[in-house]
Amino acid sequence: MSIKGVIFDLDGVLVFTDKLHYQAWKQMADKMGIYFDEEINNRLRGVSRMDSLEIILEKYYGEPLTLEQKENLATEKNDTYRELLKTMTRDDATDEVRETLAELKCRGYKLSLGSSSKNAKFILERVELLDMFDAISDGNNITKSKPDPEVFLKGAEYLGLNPEDCLVVEDAEAGVEAGLAGGMQVAAIGDAVNCGKANYNLSTFGDLLKICS
Ligand code: BG6
Ligand code: MG
Repeated sequence: MSIKGVIFDLDGVLVFTDKLHYQAWKQMADKMGIYFDEEINNRLRGVSRMDSLEIILEKYYGEPLTLEQKENLATEKNDTYRELLKTMTRDDATDEVRETLAELKCRGYKLSLGSSSKNAKFILERVELLDMFDAISDGNNITKSKPDPEVFLKGAEYLGLNPEDCLVVEDAEAGVEAGLAGGMQVAAIGDAVNCGKANYNLSTFGDLLKICS
């Protein structure tokens, strides 16, 4: 099968923002008296902001919250998260990621982002990777979260490619499922390798150059 384009998840693939998400959600949860730990945080990978809040609220035993109250909590978390993101610099993306993306471009592959995050462009700007991408599909152009394939299908569409000509790179099981559901080939990295569902498993980001030769 030919691969013409590569669609990358952001968090856990190109950069590592887990800790920052954790700190921001933790601040909100502590204020609300909600128990929250790293294990719960792991369940938020690839999940949209509002769906993440619902997972955190599984440990909330107070009066039912209105939609407006929930939106306020999500906004509060995002404000904290954006402040933390401002501390990110070029050094928060590795040379391996930077060099692999550059080499893929040299080899003629089109590159898109496929992230659930509404902060994706801001993060790519912070780490000086935005220019590497031909298209950005992120939390601002989708209505359904992974494992729905929408974010990746939009990425393929923005690149002008058929889904089957695209390779998705993912670190979350829900993302692997989303790529497969979209009819794409999927390369798993990090935790997603353990789900055993992807077409390829990467032990390191640079392994992409073996698949996309
Ligand atoms: C994903 C993260 O990339 O983006 C999730 O893995 C996060 O943890 C989601 O909830 C939404 O992010 P944001 O930046 O729109 O709140
Ligand atoms: Mg991820």
